[in-house]
Formats: sequence, structure tokens, C-alpha cells
Amino acid sequence: MEAIKRTLKKYSQEHLLNGYDKLDESKQKKLLNQIENINFELINSLYQNSQKEVQIPETQITPIEYLDKEKLNGYYKSFQETGEKAIRSGKLAAVTMAGGQGTRLGHNGPKGTFDIGLDSHKSLFELLSDSLKEQGKKYDVTIPWFIMTSEENNNDTVDFFAKHKFFGYEKDKNIFFFKQGELPMVDTEGKILIGEDGLIKEAADGHGGIYEALVKNGMTNKMRELGVEWIFIGGVDNCLVKMVDPVLMGIAIQKHVTAAGKSVVKANPGEKVGVFCKKNGRPSVVEYTEISKDMAEATDERGELIYGESHILCNLFNIDAVERMGRTPLPYHTAFKKATYIDKNGNKVVPDGPNAYKFEAFLFDAFGELDDMAILRVKREEEFAPVKNATGTDSPETARELYKKFYKV
Ligand code: UTP
Repeated sequence: MEAIKRTLKKYSQEHLLNGYDKLDESKQKKLLNQIENINFELINSLYQNSQKEVQIPETQITPIEYLDKEKLNGYYKSFQETGEKAIRSGKLAAVTMAGGQGTRLGHNGPKGTFDIGLDSHKSLFELLSDSLKEQGKKYDVTIPWFIMTSEENNNDTVDFFAKHKFFGYEKDKNIFFFKQGELPMVDTEGKILIGEDGLIKEAADGHGGIYEALVKNGMTNKMRELGVEWIFIGGVDNCLVKMVDPVLMGIAIQKHVTAAGKSVVKANPGEKVGVFCKKNGRPSVVEYTEISKDMAEATDERGELIYGESHILCNLFNIDAVERMGRTPLPYHTAFKKATYIDKNGNKVVPDGPNAYKFEAFLFDAFGELDDMAILRVKREEEFAPVKNATGTDSPETARELYKKFYKV
């Protein structure tokens, strides 16, 4: 206790123990354990950075080559055969990132449990499992499925799967759940927040936490035991995601790259999406805020947008690359969010607007670790129907229509 108090004093976070005496024994233990696990230096520097103007480091952005799935001609079959062989021999695992809060959608429960309003009333998780099982059948193999949850939604997610008998999968045999990391939230003074439960208020560390979480939780070891060499990582909220794609896999294998990502062409030059590119010669994704209007509108000799390949969170990685990325710290981005907390006098504060910083890593910030990455442009209407907002664009309504059209249901 004395050591903990010294640390808290050093970082001016003594308030974290204000409510300690009122907690029951198990919570007291938990709180001390949380405090011991906080990297105060990191939180301090993240807070300091949040107070400065965002400096986008000087980087040289150049286009990245891509292949168009529609224009592979004679190569299509060859890629497909290579990929199919690897899939049939059990070298592919699917990972679904389901640790997000789904704030924009506002569904009460994990986003994967959301019913997009099809006649079948299937949840996003069930739609994803349908597609995985269908592909598995086609290639005569069970594709192992790994689901990343967060501390916040893990129990609800696993309970939901249990209620649905894991959609035919077998827990810990071919379906696995693992939790992503968390970081404390801090207020505008840099003080770490205490939540309503009297414990440190922590939040999931962003989809960039996927690599570390796969390694730390022993998932990549598990995959190796199963003979997996390639890992598809996708989001939970794209109901048209194709987690099993022999062409994508064949391209990665034949081109000897450690990763292959899918893109859809931007709907228009001004669309607010991140696009694949190279930064200082390495694969990357550049946000729409980071490129000029001229760059966003530039076209090549065929009239195609030079920076038009939207990143859709559909990427395939070699297992060695995932393990390497899992050991490489990623930068954190700051988001200003609304967070209910207990103040230093023990009073509950429900803010009207954003009042706290949350720190998140982005999955594509790790792409710079890769020597090269193949990009495959696919058709939006076949592979990209995200559920982000409650209404309007990328909503249950738009996703449902795309799903119905594609599957003819
Ligand atoms: P988004 O960035 O769209 O976030 O996640 P979200 O949580 O779904 O929605 P908002 O922004 O709060 O409205 C894209 C994918 O990454 C996963 C999400 O579950 C989704 O599949 N994700 C995001 C995580 O698994 N963990 C995170 O910490 C963040």
C-alpha cells in the first residue's frame, strides 16, 4: 500500500484511493491491482499530447499499387487455386473484432448481437457465422473463429453465443473468445477517472489492440497448434464481410507478401474515409483529414483516383507478421468522450457533453511494420455493408438492403 501511495503521489493521482475504504474487500483488491497495472508514464504523456495541437509528422505519402478483382483475367484462376489449396489444408483462421462500443449505433448490448431487421431476424454474429460455415463446407474444413471482445462486453457476448449454441461451433475447440486491452480514461486536468463501481474507469484500447491481444492471450499459439498460417481480421459490423477469400489468399501467397488488404473504391473524391497508400515507402492508410483536396481528386491516366482505395477493415495477415505487430507498441489517438464518473468528494457526475479523454490505437498504424502489402479492390455491393449509424448512411437500413440484394433474401 505504501508503494502504491508513493506512485500515486508522484503522478498526482492520489484521489484514486479516496473511496477505497468504502469498497468491499474484493473491490479493494481489484482497485489496487488496477493501479499496479497502470503505466502512469504512458498515461501522463498521452494526456500531455492531448493538450497540444495535433502535429501530423512530416511524411511522404505516395500511392500504393492495387489489383482489381474484376480485372485479374487469367491470373484469377491461378490465385484462386493457390488460395483454395491453403484454405483446404486448414491454414486460415478468421478473427472478428467485436470489442467496440458501437456508440453511434446506440444498441443496448454488444454490436454483434444487433438484428439488422432481416425477415430471419438474425444477429450480425449469426450472419457472420452463416458465411463462415458456408465457406467451410465449400472447402471441406472448419475455419476456426476467434472473437475479440472487451472487458465491457465479454460476458454479454459469450452468453449470447452460448444461448445460440455457438451457432454450431464448439467453444475452445474451433471458436475462441479473448479480451482486448484497456486504458484508463482521464479528465481535462489529466486525472484518472473513477467509475460508478468505485474502480478505475477504463476503456478498450481501440481496434489496434488486436495484435497485442491475439499474442498476449495465447491466441496465435493456439492458431499454430491448429496449423494456421494466415489470419483474416475483420470487423463485426460489416454484414457482407468475406472472411474466406481464396483469391485474396492466393495473391498474398504468390506475391510473397505478409499481408493483403481489401479495398472498395471511394464513392466520390470527397468521401470521408481512410485510403490505402504508402507513407515513407511503407504500407499505410491515410485519413481523409490528412490529404489535400488536390490529392483526393487526383486521377491516373485511366481516370482512376490515385488515392481511392478505401480501407474497409478486411485484411489478411501471415501469422508471423501478426506476432511481430503484437510486440510492437502502436501510437495512441485521443478521443474526447462523455464519461460518468465519481469525483474526488465521492459524488457521481453525469456530464452533459464530452469531459474525458479515451486513448485508442488504430489497426492500420501497424501496417508500417510490413515490408509490403497487396491490395485487392473488390466490389462495394458484394463485400461492404457496414452498420455504423442508427439512421442514414451506413445504418441498419442500408446494410439490410445490400445484404438482401446480394443474398437474394
Ligand atoms: P468502429 O471504429 O466503427 O467503432 O469499429 P464501433 O465501436 O463499432 O462504433 P462507434 O465508433 O463507437 O460508433 C470498427 C470495428 O472495430 C471494432 C468494432 O467492434 C468494429 O468491429 N473495435 C473497435 C474493437 O474491436 N475494439 C475497439 O476498441 C474499437
